[in-house]
Amino acid sequence: TVPQIQATLRHSNRLKKFSEPWLLPHGALAKKHASKLKLPSQSLFNKTIALLFSKRSTRTRLAAETSATLLGGRALFLGRDDIQLGVNESPRDTARVIGGMCQGIFARVGEHEEIEELARHSPVPVLNALSSLWHPTQILADLLTLHEHAYLFEENGVAPPPDGIAGTPVFQELRPLTVAYVGDAANVLHDMLVTYPRLGHKLRVASPPQYRAPAEVWRRVEELGCDKDIWWGEDPKEAVKGADVVVTDTWISMGQEAEKAERLKAFEGYQVTEEMCRLGGANPNWKFMHCLPRKPHEVDDEVFYGPRSLVFPEADNRKWTIMALFDNLFGRWTHESYTKPQ
Ligand code: CP
Ligand code: NVA
Repeated sequence: TVPQIQATLRHSNRLKKFSEPWLLPHGALAKKHASKLKLPSQSLFNKTIALLFSKRSTRTRLAAETSATLLGGRALFLGRDDIQLGVNESPRDTARVIGGMCQGIFARVGEHEEIEELARHSPVPVLNALSSLWHPTQILADLLTLHEHAYLFEENGVAPPPDGIAGTPVFQELRPLTVAYVGDAANVLHDMLVTYPRLGHKLRVASPPQYRAPAEVWRRVEELGCDKDIWWGEDPKEAVKGADVVVTDTWISMGQEAEKAERLKAFEGYQVTEEMCRLGGANPNWKFMHCLPRKPHEVDDEVFYGPRSLVFPEADNRKWTIMALFDNLFGRWTHESYTKPQ
């Protein structure tokens, strides 16, 4: 729900602010609260989250492992070549067995149905770390990044002073934005479609006609009433008209390697460049986001490594948002227990 999304984003920003002191051995805050079992670093005490990943990952895995460590617990990586699943054992039995020993499952799967099946049979919560249809945790990081850079979209564009010990950016309200997505209709875009309009932002999407969101995704978009704030066409220049943010993703998602030649041809002309956005009439101050990993097809180096790019703060924020989800779903630390005198 929207309140849950908003609460999670705020919680991510707090965790970012409050996590650093626990890392300093003699930090005054850590010392003051050391005797209380209510620190972020004790939230997952004695708990293990299984990372059940059947596809590669850099960011999601790093975010999960490092944040479970900061929360005082363990993330246990179970790759496709490590366990019996898929070769000697069914998803149903695997979910039951993992759930008997771990407190949560963070799963990266191929077909979306695989994660539904795990969730049906798991005795503990299952969180989606990417499926063929959705990538929900990515969108939380994207939104946190936009909130932390909200000043970029304001008239005066002045950054507020950071408010965390490690220079954590301030979490600010966002004005309604126009967000353009140019490229393949895949999992990341699907979650944008069901999220941004509900938070008051408009989406403009350009993709070749044969690469559109599947019916089940579009049904969800309509169910949530998001379709009225989405423009979808074929022309990338038209899509970036008035865009405050331009987003793209790889044209060849994991598992689509055999379609490479066909896809590169279909997406010709969709590469995000300065010229495309200038000719299309993007907000002159537009910013760029990408979930990564990036290939040079979908965005050129000038944009990707240039001053408009938010891609690395966006990658860093995978950690704080996943940490907030772990804490909320499996942990026991809250901001209130930290701030209120015990
Ligand atoms: N953005 C993202 O999910 O990256 P990884 O595939 O490296 O986890
Ligand atoms: N659409 C991409 C996202 C990677 C994070 C994929 O599924 O490979």
